[in-house]
This record gives sequence, C-alpha cells and structure tokens, in this order.
Amino acid sequence: MDQGTTAYTVQRPVNVLGIGGSTRPGSTAELALRATLAAAERLGAKGTVIGGAELVMPLYDPAERDLSRPARRLLDAVAEADALVIASPAYHGSTSGLLKNALDHIEELRTHERPYLSGRAVGCLTVAQGWQSGVATLGALRTITHALRGWPTPLGVVVNTSATGFTEDGHCADPRVREQMETMARQVVEFARMSHR
Ligand SMILES: Cc1cc2nc3c(=O)[nH]c(=O)nc-3n(C[C@H](O)[C@H](O)[C@H](O)COP(=O)(O)O)c2cc1C
Repeated sequence: MDQGTTAYTVQRPVNVLGIGGSTRPGSTAELALRATLAAAERLGAKGTVIGGAELVMPLYDPAERDLSRPARRLLDAVAEADALVIASPAYHGSTSGLLKNALDHIEELRTHERPYLSGRAVGCLTVAQGWQSGVATLGALRTITHALRGWPTPLGVVVNTSATGFTEDGHCADPRVREQMETMARQVVEFARMSHR
C-alpha cells in the first residue's frame, strides 16, 4: 500500500437547482422539472427545486433595494448552484411571464463573484400543447441562458402535451422523452463535475 503522499479528494455532490413550472396545480412543466432533477440525483447530484408557486414575486424593479423573500431565496439558490435546469410552459409562443420575471431578478447577481449564471451548465426544458411553441420557447430559454452567461446543454427538451403526459407518480409516459430528460440531466451533471474539479 502506498505510504506516501497520495491525495484523496472528497468531492461533494454537485448542486443542481431546478427553476420553473407554473402556479397551476399539477403543473406539467414542474413535473418535467422534478423528473429531470430526479434523474440528476440518480447520478449523484443534490437537487433543489424552486417551483411555480415559489416564483410568485413582485415584478423586477432594478431600483428596488428591498427584495421580496421569494426573490432573495431564488438569488441565494442561484448563487449556490453548480448547475441549473430551467423549465417553462409555452405561453403564446414564448416563456411564461412568471418565469421570465424570476429570471430577470438574476440581474441582482451582476457583481457576484460568479456573475449571473457564469460557468454553469443550464438544461432548458419546455412544455407546450404543440411543437411550434415548444420549440420556440426552448429557443427563448437558451437565448436567456446565453444572456445570463450560462452554458445551455447541447440537448434541450420539449414535452408536447398533445403527444404525451405524466403519470400520477411523476413519470413521463413517453419513454423517448424520459430518455431525453435523462440525457439532459447527465449533460448538466457532467459539465458541473468537469468545471468544479
Ligand atoms: C396563457 C397560456 C398561453 C398558452 N400558449 C400556448 C402556446 O402558444 N402554444 C402552445 O402550444 N401551448 C400554449 N399553452 C398551453 C401550455 O403551454 C400547456 O398547457 C402547458 O402544459 C402548461 O404548463 P403547465 O402544465 O406547467 O401549467 C398556453 C397556456 C396558457 C395558460
């Protein structure tokens, strides 16, 4: 056995933060988000979800110094995240106002040691009743991620609810969509591990 100076590195699990969903009870976007976070946890990550109800906060005002409690919680979680998954329903061809307003608050992290989403992988996930809006909304989420200096994963996922749905225990009924969510979770976790070695 090596009696010398072998270094043992104990790696903590990567923190993957999920943001998204709607305030609708049984939100499909939130179910998809939780399923993706569960896949990340199976790969050894620690998942935290800030769902639709927790994204209800006043409209972002850059001049406001007294941020609401949900906004502060969101910003603290973003600052601590090693990677993120962002999920939105398609609302009239783009991301919901609820999610966009929450993401606008990330402006408050511009002077943070890791500004905005810098250095973090971001898995983008959308839910829509058709492909056209689902894909357009996915493009919007990826653009927002770029603007926030994050790294969209190679694979983004669209769940088309006219083609599939979620079971009561939160699994997507379509195995191909499940596989896509698992692949995206793997890309998020692997990127986080590579960049936090
Ligand atoms: C205000 C509103 C606008 C919507 N706009 C679109 C749309 O443009 N295209 C589409 O495919 N689905 C649209 N939908 C359907 C939602 O994207 C879809 O039902 C989604 O699953 C809702 O997400 P949730 O289950 O997380 O609430 C809209 C729904 C609402 C409430």
